[in-house]
Amino acid sequence: MPSTAQRVLIIGTGGTIAGRAASSTDHVGYKAGEVGIGELISGVPPLRDLPLVFEQLAQLDSKDMDLATWQRLAVRVQAALDDAAVSGVVITHGTDTLEETAYLLHRVLQGQKPVVLTAAMRPASSLSPDGPQNLLDAVTLAGTPGVQGVLVCMAGRVHRADRVRKIHSYQVDAFESPDGAVALLEGGEMRCLQPWCVPMGWGVEKLPADEAAWPRVALVWNAAGEDGAVVPQLEALAQREGRRLGLVAAGTGNGSLSRSLESALLAAQDRGVAVVRATRCAYGPVIGGGALRNAGALSLPQARVDLLLQLLDV
Ligand code: SIN
Repeated sequence: MPSTAQRVLIIGTGGTIAGRAASSTDHVGYKAGEVGIGELISGVPPLRDLPLVFEQLAQLDSKDMDLATWQRLAVRVQAALDDAAVSGVVITHGTDTLEETAYLLHRVLQGQKPVVLTAAMRPASSLSPDGPQNLLDAVTLAGTPGVQGVLVCMAGRVHRADRVRKIHSYQVDAFESPDGAVALLEGGEMRCLQPWCVPMGWGVEKLPADEAAWPRVALVWNAAGEDGAVVPQLEALAQREGRRLGLVAAGTGNGSLSRSLESALLAAQDRGVAVVRATRCAYGPVIGGGALRNAGALSLPQARVDLLLQLLDV
């Protein structure tokens, strides 16, 4: 931790890390977002003597993460980064949508201080919860001089927000970066493996506080028999709502699309819908051009965040 008067701010948003089950052996039938952030912190004795402040911004199962909470979180984190008394920020979050919250923050925040998202795959009530160690590691990281950018710290591995993805539904080491972790936390010590990456600074003030002011961005999945009929239906929905529409095409392989889906998407693009072509493959970018914009190495959730910001920018 820094020797100055600086503190780490811990922001609680819910998730399994704050989950509670009736039985200590139940890792599935629990309720996420039950235990307050103060109680989580006091359950980790090494945190008690550290210069910390904490607040509860939300108490959600992250499958229910919403755009208004994203906006409040981004604005709060930016204010903390701008505060000279704060050395870094830790956010406790559910694992299910953690990668897109991390990517959103990476895109919109300004500044170099660390913002570390952490989580757990086992509820706080578990016989052997993974949350306490993850929280301790995240605070260690957020208080380590030189650490920069939006990061995800889980099971001793540190991932960059622009790379990380959730790859397992149950195991405690549920996150991965296709090009490898950026650092490791080993016995409380950080070992840096790759350069840090600072946020892209799009600006939190451009995020609407009102959900209805956000565009609608939907995923359209290529698969056997996919004929693109859903595309005009989504256009009609967005038109009824008075929202701008973006479509992320979850292409097969290198972003390939059935002939009918591709022509439906091209027609929608001609009518002003923003379309990006990504891949449903777990690894590898979409390579090559074409009439639809290529998502490159962005995962499907990241491509959706990218399109939301693109539509908010116009
Ligand atoms: C959630 O995402 O809030 C529940 C699942 C988890 O945190 O692992």
